Amino acid sequence: MQLRFARRISKTKKSFVREIFKFLGDPEMISFSGGFPNPNSFPVDGIKEAAIKVLEADGANALQYSSSEGYLPLRQYISKRYQKRFGLEVDPSEILICNGSQQAFDLIAKVFLEVNDTVVIEYPAYLGALQSFGFYEPSYKEVKLTSSGLDLKQLEEALKDNPKLMYVVPNFQNPTGLSYSAENRLAIAELLKKTDTILIEDDPYGELRFKGVDNKPIKMLLDEQTIMLGSFSKIVSPGMRMGWLVAKKDIMDKLVMAKQASDLHSNYFTQRILTQYLLDNDIDEHIKKIKVMYLSQREAMLSSIKKYFDPSIITTEPEGGMFLWATLPEGISSMSLFQEAVNEKIVYVPGDPFYVNGEGINTLRLNYTNSTKEEIDIGIQRLAKVFNKAIKKTNSR
Ligand SMILES: Cc1ncc(COP(=O)(O)O)c(C=O)c1O
Repeated sequence: MQLRFARRISKTKKSFVREIFKFLGDPEMISFSGGFPNPNSFPVDGIKEAAIKVLEADGANALQYSSSEGYLPLRQYISKRYQKRFGLEVDPSEILICNGSQQAFDLIAKVFLEVNDTVVIEYPAYLGALQSFGFYEPSYKEVKLTSSGLDLKQLEEALKDNPKLMYVVPNFQNPTGLSYSAENRLAIAELLKKTDTILIEDDPYGELRFKGVDNKPIKMLLDEQTIMLGSFSKIVSPGMRMGWLVAKKDIMDKLVMAKQASDLHSNYFTQRILTQYLLDNDIDEHIKKIKVMYLSQREAMLSSIKKYFDPSIITTEPEGGMFLWATLPEGISSMSLFQEAVNEKIVYVPGDPFYVNGEGINTLRLNYTNSTKEEIDIGIQRLAKVFNKAIKKTNSR
């Protein structure tokens, strides 16, 4: 029998990040590869109490089907938080609860993209979004990400043909950890205003700022042209799969139809538990604890890097989020060194999958939130052994 798969799945590549999982069964392996929050940050007791409370007070309803848009008190909570953090007015009717913010990529692409429509993306870009958009077979225009945001010349060029969508992560971007300055956001908004391009502003890490000051979302400068995404994965729990999107009514109507067709609604029981947890606990206090933990892990990684890495290796020094981005000297491929690193019992994510055009071979992503300080120090020493040797070899040629 011949398996006659659709073209869209035949064209989809396996995620390299998922491929790395097979190495993690080895107890001696240290991993800087995943985008995993620190499990010590998960509010196990608070969620347990919330679950019991929901089941005791309203168990049968909590186990019933519910609305596609999501549980209203949860959407009201999110709306109030935007108001509190930025003075941003978002009506709860403009919020759709999704199965993680990851689902929003699929819904948006389903609603907007025809084959070969253009999506403007950062360079490098978040793999999960590319994987999701990829099913709708768009073409990409890449705009280089610099230490203060998007390269505006490249953006102006990319917007010339009025592309349908543009996707950005302006706070502590995955994979680089970089953030957009206020000026850069303003300039992006000004350029986008001249187009019909819908901006997807993804922000799963914005709450995790441990240095510097927050910048306001680009949505506040563009409003209806923006679909904003948010997530509880990095501030409560990724396993609960609770995320959301914010969109104006005309777009929302279509997205709700796509959501209904996709899964009727996000897990209602989990929405109820999460809402109960959020109402009964001080989330700011909880986030503060996460930030203290991540800042010390980030400091540990940067200090080990200074100690052990060859000085020709450059890394970002993010003010929040979960990742560092390292650049090896030109010509050294982090993918080719991956197996050698596995032999040394250390894994990371090579940079090239984050670029759609096969560039970035000398870059890599390092996650610091899911290892202890001791593991970070040992892991960086192991990496230094592999990278410094490759650099020495190249220099001696
Ligand atoms: C930039 C970015 N967007 C979206 C997601 C998806 O998050 P979730 O579906 O858990 O909300 C992630 C996950 O790591 C991410 O890094």
